[in-house]
Amino acid sequence: MQRTLGVCYYPEHWPEERWETDASQMAATGLSWVRIGEFAWSLMEPEPGRFDWAWLDRAVETLGAAGLKVVMGTPTATPPRWMIDKYPDMLAVDANGHPRKFGSRRHYDFSHLGYREEAHRIARLMAERYGSNPYVAAWQIDNEYDCHDTTLSYSQAARKGFQDWLAQRYQSTDALNRAWGNVFWSMQYESFDQVELPNLTVTEPNHAHQLAFRRYSSDQVVAFNKVQADEIRKHTNAPLIHNYMGRIMTFDHWAVGADLDIASWDSYPIGFLSDRLEGTSEEKQFYLRQGHPDMQAFHHDLYRGVGRGRLWVMEQQPGPVNWAPYNPAPLPGMARLWAWEAFAHGAETVCYFRWRQAPFAQEQMHAALLRPDAAPAPALAEARQVADEIATLPDVGTADAKVALVVDYESAWAWDAQPQGRDFDMFRLAFAAYRALRRGGLNIDIIPPDTADLSNYRLVLAPGLMRISDTLRAALAKFDGIALVGPRTDTKTDELGIPTPLGPDLPDVSVSVVMTESLPPNDAIPLASGGVFKHWFEHLEGDAKIYLQTANGQPAVMGQQHLRYLAGWPDDMTFRQIIASLCEELGLNYAEMPEGLRVRETKTHRFVFNYASAPRQWGQVEIPAAGVHWEDL
Ligand code: GAL
Repeated sequence: MQRTLGVCYYPEHWPEERWETDASQMAATGLSWVRIGEFAWSLMEPEPGRFDWAWLDRAVETLGAAGLKVVMGTPTATPPRWMIDKYPDMLAVDANGHPRKFGSRRHYDFSHLGYREEAHRIARLMAERYGSNPYVAAWQIDNEYDCHDTTLSYSQAARKGFQDWLAQRYQSTDALNRAWGNVFWSMQYESFDQVELPNLTVTEPNHAHQLAFRRYSSDQVVAFNKVQADEIRKHTNAPLIHNYMGRIMTFDHWAVGADLDIASWDSYPIGFLSDRLEGTSEEKQFYLRQGHPDMQAFHHDLYRGVGRGRLWVMEQQPGPVNWAPYNPAPLPGMARLWAWEAFAHGAETVCYFRWRQAPFAQEQMHAALLRPDAAPAPALAEARQVADEIATLPDVGTADAKVALVVDYESAWAWDAQPQGRDFDMFRLAFAAYRALRRGGLNIDIIPPDTADLSNYRLVLAPGLMRISDTLRAALAKFDGIALVGPRTDTKTDELGIPTPLGPDLPDVSVSVVMTESLPPNDAIPLASGGVFKHWFEHLEGDAKIYLQTANGQPAVMGQQHLRYLAGWPDDMTFRQIIASLCEELGLNYAEMPEGLRVRETKTHRFVFNYASAPRQWGQVEIPAAGVHWEDL
């Protein structure tokens, strides 16, 4: 499969006379795709029921005539102002009960059925009009679900929807009261319409109540997406895509992805480093202009899984963004490196965001491939270089991974409700495991919690799963590699209670978590073999073999040859040591990479990425700062 590049474009931001020049310059840069439309509802339908498609027809025609393939976005992330007059109650409400008003974007509530129908309607009209247009070769539905924290809303629409959802799930309030343990603090309900949303309570609401609301809210995202997907499919054979984000755990991406053909995501490495990653200030300084070297890879591997093998980057950072606390420029070369890294992880297409920097409105300080005055910005030449390189290396394939990491969204909601220690966060734990794996140069698949077949893998990690599904348990029972589960895996019931007998329930392993400790940042539990657990430690009992102990003789890893339980959260170095020794047992090569270098193998090549700001040696080869090296396998 030929790798391709693209760009995000807003024809409605520029005079029409400019479109042809832009289109031919995109083509001349070697770009194949152009994404348009996703915020342009107010121009498509200036008044309810009055449409203006002519400008969009001409934009598609102009871009297509230049040889570009169009990704058509549905504009449902930006309903026009008149929509709010029609449905004043469609605005989301924050946890403090305040409406999230018109004047930016994503001002809608996933639970509002009137708005859901409007989204369905505009998707249908667009698909009827462009579904068989030869230039429209892919569709993007909405834009970045949950961006600006929009999955959860505490509105009347959500309250009503939640009550109906509860009635469906539990059938009777008796069943709900039992499932949630509402006898505690006299919290019983007698009818579903008494159940409020879990905000504005005196102290924390029941965790089971919170988890139910998180499940409900995720289901609304899935339903909102599916209404559009099902409709667009009636009118086109082109693939349907959503552009997911980095570090978003609020809805079940596996479930949304099941209704789409390709998973794409929006990669802003430097913004993420400063805005949403833990890390020491030294680490953040070291990677200031490059981004964390594992953050992009993690999401490529995650979304390749969500897309069942089909991955795109829909938006790639080209220069400074506008939205992080600090917005430094990338090192020269990073806009190229990020694209090649995506390709090495299986991406079919990487689109830069955006073509030309807008001189107005909220994102005017966000860099693009062109400056506001239409002169080339630094990333344009890097995109050109990637396009030329693709021509010499058109298809590198995607290699099979021997290592898998299970990522589960429901567990993230469970631990949000019940962190038990301030630092316990599902993404953070999964990312810690991922970093340790990748530092050893391993290819990694990220897999869903209901995976039925592990037979392609040798090493499987499943940290922090609130429960192991029956499907996964059956797969683990047959697994002949090594699975390391825990900490905090399979220690809860479906309703976030404590099971008896105590969990985890692991095939052929006698082990139970009998007490749990969370630790403040400066504390740690030393291990007998060196290294430490941070944040979290579980006291284990049982007859299973002890593979690793703490310095004071408590079990740290227990289990049997193929399935072991990890009792704590290892710090980075310890995680690497634990994984390196499992790899040694399995005969997998764990070769610790120097700081800044990362490797990824494809079917045909080994790619080496230098995320450091100084040259790094790879065998005989010196890779410059922000450099990419590839060699035949
Ligand atoms: C993304 C979004 C784009 C744009 C971009 C700026 O989150 O999808 O529309 O806002 O960020 O970095």
